[in-house]
Amino acid sequence: MAIIKAQKGTKDILPADIGLWHFMEKTALDIFSRYGAKEIRTPIFEATELFARGVGDTTDIVNKEMYTFEKSERSLTLRPENTAGVVRSFIENGMHRLSAPVKLWYKGPMFRYERPQAGRQRQFHQVGVEVFGIKQPTADAEVIFMATNYLKALGLNNLSVEINSLGCPDCREIFKSKLKEVLKPYLSEMCPDCQTRYEKNPLRLLDCKVPECNEIYAKPEIQSVIQSDFICDDCSSHFEELKTYLNELKIDYSINKLLVRGLDYYNRTVFEIKSNSLGSQNAVCGGGRYDSLVKNLGGEDTPAIGFAMGMERLAALLNEKMEYKTHAFVISNNSLEAIKLTEEVRNAGFSCEFDLTNKKFVKQLEKASKVAKYALILGEDEIAQNKVTVKNLETSEQKTVNRDSKFFI
Ligand code: HAM
Repeated sequence: MAIIKAQKGTKDILPADIGLWHFMEKTALDIFSRYGAKEIRTPIFEATELFARGVGDTTDIVNKEMYTFEKSERSLTLRPENTAGVVRSFIENGMHRLSAPVKLWYKGPMFRYERPQAGRQRQFHQVGVEVFGIKQPTADAEVIFMATNYLKALGLNNLSVEINSLGCPDCREIFKSKLKEVLKPYLSEMCPDCQTRYEKNPLRLLDCKVPECNEIYAKPEIQSVIQSDFICDDCSSHFEELKTYLNELKIDYSINKLLVRGLDYYNRTVFEIKSNSLGSQNAVCGGGRYDSLVKNLGGEDTPAIGFAMGMERLAALLNEKMEYKTHAFVISNNSLEAIKLTEEVRNAGFSCEFDLTNKKFVKQLEKASKVAKYALILGEDEIAQNKVTVKNLETSEQKTVNRDSKFFI
C-alpha cells in the first residue's frame, strides 16, 4: 500500500533535532523576559478578513499565499503571520487599558502557500515580538536590541542589520506619486505583478525580484527618486534618533532604501536581519513600525512596532545537533529492582531509563553508553547489599555507593 507522506512544503521536526528547537524557544523566553515581554498564544486560524484588512489586499501573502477555507459559511484562514492576530487579541482583550508599553512575544507555526525551496516552507515557524503604545524611537531601538540580543544569545553572528524609513502616509504619498511619474514611460515593460503594484501600491515595486523590472529600476533617473530623502521632518528626526541609539549601542547596521517589506501595515522604521551564510532566502528577521494597524482593525489609536524571525532559518544556521542524553540508565537482570530504582531516580527529578526487554547485561551496558550519561548497575551483589554501582559513561570512572544515598545528584 502506498505510504502517506508529509505535504509538500511541510517538515517533521524529529527527535534528533528537537534539542535545537527547545534551545531556540528557551532562549526566546529568557531574552524577551529581560525586556519585560510576556508570551501570548493566539489561535492558528482567524477570520480571513483579519488578514485582508491587516496584512493588506495588495500583498502577495493575501493575494496568492493564504490557506483559506469555509466552515459554517464563515471564511477562515490559517495565519500567514502573527502580527494581525496579536493586534486582534490586543483590541479584543482591551490591552490598551494596560500601562504602556505592552510587550508581547510569540512562537508557533505560520502557513503560506509559497513555492517551497531551501529556507522557504508552506508551514514554517516564527518567533516574534510586538510592542504596543510607544511612538518614540526608543521603542524602535529597543525592539532592534531584542532581535539582535536574541540572535547573539543563540550564538549567531555573520548577520547584517538593514534599516529604512518608509515615512508616514503623508510623505509617502508624495514619494509614491514621484515614483509613478518617473516610472510611467516603462509601465508596459514591467512584469504583470508590477503593473498591478504600480496602480495599487507603487512602493512594493521596489521589492520585485524579476530581472527585467530590476533593470528598469536601476536606471539613474529612477534611482535618483528611490535614493532621495523623501521623508518629512518629523519622520526624519524619528529616524535620526533611532540611528543615534543604534550607533551608541554599537549595533552594526546599514541603510537600505530598497527595503520596503512585503506587508502593507508598515510606516516609518522597517528593518531586516540577513545572514551571509544562507542562500537566496537569507532574511532571518523582518519587522517594523505599524502605527495605524490597531486603529484600522477597530481599536484605539495605538502606535506599535515588532518583528518576527523564521525559526527554520535560525535552525539551519545553528545546524549543530543538540542531542539530549538520558541522565541515567539502570542495568540489571532483575527487572523488578530495575523498575524500582528507575522510578526512584525519576522521582528525584532526573531522567532515567532501564531495559524494558531484560536483555543480557553486556547488551544493556552497550545501550546505556549510547543514550545515557551514567549507568546505574544493580548486580546480584549490589542488590544483596542494598548498593548501586554508578558508572560515568564518559570517563568510565565508577564507584559503589549506598542505594539510599543521593548518589544520582
Ligand atoms: P515576514 O518578513 O513576512 O514578516 O516574515 C518574518 C520572517 O519569517 C522572515 O524574515 C523569514 O525568516 C520567515 N519566513 C517568512 N516566510 C517564510 C517561509 N515561507 N518559510 C520559512 N520562513 C519564512 C512578518 O511575518 C511580520 N509579521 C513581522 C513583523 C512583526 N512585523 C512587525 N511585527
